[in-house]
Amino acid sequence: MSLVSASFLLQHAQANTYAVPAFNFHDLVDVQAIIAAAEAEAAPVILMASEGTIRFAGFPYVEGLAYAAAQEAKIPFALHLDHGRELDNIIKSIRHGFTSVMFDGSHLVFDENIRVTRWVVDVAHRVSISVEGELGQIPGAEDDISVTAQEAGMTDPHLVAEYVERTGVDALAVAIGTAHGLYKGEPKLDFERLAAIRKATSVPLVLHGGTGIPDETVRQAISLGICKLNVGTDLRLAYTGSINRAVREQEINDPRPLLNIAREAVIEVVRKKIRLCGANGQAKVIGA
Ligand code: G3H
Ligand code: ZN
Repeated sequence: MSLVSASFLLQHAQANTYAVPAFNFHDLVDVQAIIAAAEAEAAPVILMASEGTIRFAGFPYVEGLAYAAAQEAKIPFALHLDHGRELDNIIKSIRHGFTSVMFDGSHLVFDENIRVTRWVVDVAHRVSISVEGELGQIPGAEDDISVTAQEAGMTDPHLVAEYVERTGVDALAVAIGTAHGLYKGEPKLDFERLAAIRKATSVPLVLHGGTGIPDETVRQAISLGICKLNVGTDLRLAYTGSINRAVREQEINDPRPLLNIAREAVIEVVRKKIRLCGANGQAKVIGA
């Protein structure tokens, strides 16, 4: 059985100081590419569907893709709802076989974020689904969620212990200077803040906005406690860029050669991220 809870993967990553790479997917090509890359690198991975992807593909297709992959995958992976804001989507994710959900209450005031996250945890834990929460707000745009620099706020380390204790989350997304989408300059991460957050809680920490962060910065973040790295934009750029190039170069009237090109391009990006996270080879020792 290769479909496991995200919590199980993150505990292993935390104990062995690497990060599980988590990739946003939209369709069959993405899922095949992510699983093929993970198998080539013998790495655990997390497949993430955002609410935008669910709107695009629908729950039955999202579930079907993941469970089709699970039939033959030689590596353990989780199916995760990314940035869930609608409680309806959280419940449907659980019903449709997701093994992990994120409730993104980062736009809510502290007590309200805690109250709703706690509710999600209570529901999800009854059926052994792990929950990721978010404290602080990550700037940038991801599908429906757009947060301006003014609205964004970094995670306050002083609130972390209370948030984790009162919500019971299994993983915590932190805002320490990364952003969704492409960066204008080089992102500067607040490592002091990350170290303080790490001290305040023992739950696995999650870094969003994994596209465009310099490799050395990612490695340092992992050494300071990041156990899950979320990557989306890089895969989208590889997918659409490779198709755009192919279409410019030749007239193609069969989608399959184009999608093969896209799949290869996504595989390449995913393999690089897996190695950057230090997740390569970990599937052999994880014991799933
Ligand atoms: O939740 C998903 C990630 O935070 C994606 O961020 O698109 O900047 O790589 P990214
Ligand atoms: Zn994110």
